[in-house]
Amino acid sequence: MNTSLFNDTIEDIRAAADIIRSGGLVAFPTETVYGLGANAFDAEAVKKVYEAKGRPSDNPMIVHIAEATELAKLTPEITEDMKLLAEAFWPGPLTMVVKRAEDIPDVTTGGLDTVGVRLPSDETARALIRLSGCAIAAPSANLSGRPSPTKAAHVKHDLFGRIDGIIMGKDCSFGIESSVIDMTGDIPMILRPGIITKEMFEEALCKEVLTDPSLNRNPGDEDFKPKAPGMKYKHYAPKAEMYVYRGRPEKVKAAIEAEAARLEAAGRTVRVISFTAGKEGELKAAHDLFSELRRADEDGAEVILAAALPEQGVGFSVMNRMLKSAGYNIRNV
Ligand code: TXA
Ligand code: MG
Repeated sequence: MNTSLFNDTIEDIRAAADIIRSGGLVAFPTETVYGLGANAFDAEAVKKVYEAKGRPSDNPMIVHIAEATELAKLTPEITEDMKLLAEAFWPGPLTMVVKRAEDIPDVTTGGLDTVGVRLPSDETARALIRLSGCAIAAPSANLSGRPSPTKAAHVKHDLFGRIDGIIMGKDCSFGIESSVIDMTGDIPMILRPGIITKEMFEEALCKEVLTDPSLNRNPGDEDFKPKAPGMKYKHYAPKAEMYVYRGRPEKVKAAIEAEAARLEAAGRTVRVISFTAGKEGELKAAHDLFSELRRADEDGAEVILAAALPEQGVGFSVMNRMLKSAGYNIRNV
């Protein structure tokens, strides 16, 4: 397939929108990660997204809108809590799982009776949605199982030749996917942690929110049953073997240094990934994690040794990705 490469100019975004409108697939930047978009109401187009990514078809898409008023087209009921979160965090890295409108195709929602909705803040993404004249269903624009793409070059690497177009825009400012929160129960429940943390949700809603218990389990555990279908898959995996070191920072540093020296002496190519704790460090970790993993692959790293962050705030969200990337190979030191 011929893949057109677009710039993020308005003329180019209009040409990309023409492709979406006529049932094609276009990858585009958002503030979280790049998305692979199709008209959310065109079942044939959405089917092609699963094929292009090699994605299991029970895994629902997030539907992207350009204005909060468009939420009414996707759900029969807008609750007070939904309004509060939309006001606090849209446009931005928030996906709300809500009751679905009946005319959304089953293939878009993975056959569920709910739909995930997000209003991105990225101006290129919003212009594309507006000019397409429809809501855009978009998973992350990576091959299924690979780290999510945070740069246009990552998308080109994974999907060139498999989709109709790529908007070669800026690097994503946050670097991990949106926080997904289920708004269909009595108490909202976080299904995927992101830049918007539990504390931020609680402040906006003036009440406690839940976290899917599976976010604190490993896939081997008996009660690992994530409520977001996508959270059960092996994800974000680099080609290298990867190990996460958990423990006091000095001990982790020493253990990683010793292991790296041992492996290098045995002739293996090693990459060390370590971030700084604290709010700023956690945001930088979110921003850099996926691109570091891809860079390690490009550089031919055989083993990645990563230092864990404390699992709180955005650190919890980063660790969710880091542990999956490592296939839950954890070394407690
Ligand atoms: O930041 C993001 O959310 C990016 C950008 C492109 O917007 N998109 C993204 O999509 O990460 P994807 O498909 O890679 O991840 C969507 C996650 C999956 O874990 C999926 O199972 C979950 O959201 N999800 C979507 N709709 C859902 C629903 N109705 N109920 C439960 N989980 C849902
Ligand atoms: Mg994804």
